[in-house]
Amino acid sequence: TTRILTGITATGTPHLGNYAGAIRPAIRASRNPNTQAFFFLADLHALVKCESPERVQRSRLEIAASWIACGLDTARATFYRQSDIPEISELNWLLSCVAAKGLLNRAHAYKAAQDKNRAAGGDEDAGITMGLFSYPLLMAADILLFSAEQVPVGRDQIQHVEMARDIAQRFNYLYGQGRALLTLPEAIVEQSVATLPGLDGRKMSKSYDNTIALFADPKSMKAAIKRIQTDSRAPGEPKDAQGSHLVTLYQAFANPEQLAQLHTDLLGGLAWSEAKQRLFEVLQAELGEARERYQALIAKPDDLEDILLAGAAKARQVARPLLDELKQAVGLRSFQ
Ligand code: TYM
Repeated sequence: TTRILTGITATGTPHLGNYAGAIRPAIRASRNPNTQAFFFLADLHALVKCESPERVQRSRLEIAASWIACGLDTARATFYRQSDIPEISELNWLLSCVAAKGLLNRAHAYKAAQDKNRAAGGDEDAGITMGLFSYPLLMAADILLFSAEQVPVGRDQIQHVEMARDIAQRFNYLYGQGRALLTLPEAIVEQSVATLPGLDGRKMSKSYDNTIALFADPKSMKAAIKRIQTDSRAPGEPKDAQGSHLVTLYQAFANPEQLAQLHTDLLGGLAWSEAKQRLFEVLQAELGEARERYQALIAKPDDLEDILLAGAAKARQVARPLLDELKQAVGLRSFQ
């Protein structure tokens, strides 16, 4: 069997990028009888970006409900909240003692924060917390504690998975005595949706405020779709699908025939507003029923809580023995 694992940071409402880049491929993979799946709500990571306790709580609820509404089978997959697994934080420390600071210096998120400070003419580390700096370490702990082999993610997370791999290699080299104590993970990225664009064409992201919420009600979804930027070609004028992020979004949800038809019709002068209507329709077809399940789930937080607690108990059964073995390997356990 293959172990797959992925997480979503609990800082906001899940959007179409999270769905296409992580939730959808992860749930598909989890249906394969030969995979063992671990999916979680990254609420420890949320503290790095979010100082509002209410928002973290609300976001966790929304993400939990989203996974289940999208068809996650919580009897088969292990579904949990990161902060319920103390072993993750313990491993985090063991990893900090082997990971090179220089490796973390190269993390995109940290470098971007420094660049911003430099551009503003201030101290390059101003406002950067240790949480932000060591974010990839905690993520490595998430992945390595469950011996994950495959990590379905969007393109923006590839570097983090590669860092986890580097750190695992170093740990094995230092403490494995020829054994691979930690499994080397690999990022699984679906090329066609590796970076789903947002309303303005940049990567869809909470931090750019250009997202379409996964389960926005139909009216809000239509309103968001209306705001997708297009070129100024009028109805009747031939339009090039290449380079249109509206078409890239459509491609993530349409079947090949629908996509080919849109290309043809745009060349034939289809209005952008019509193309937007088609995007709405494919989204509705894919997400309409799930939205109803989502609404029902979110109204019952206690049931979700029960699912997460059961998931945490299952996860810890896997996590504890490996962590004990690692502690033994580094010299923290027993006198043998
Ligand atoms: P986060 O919460 O930013 O995003 C969750 C997942 O959604 C993907 N994603 C996208 N994919 C395609 N197009 C987009 N526009 C887009 N926006 C987001 C992300 O690539 C990610 O797969 N650090 C992680 C959470 C995490 C994690 C882990 C993931 C913590 N520990 C261990 C995997 C394994 C994060 O902040 O993702």
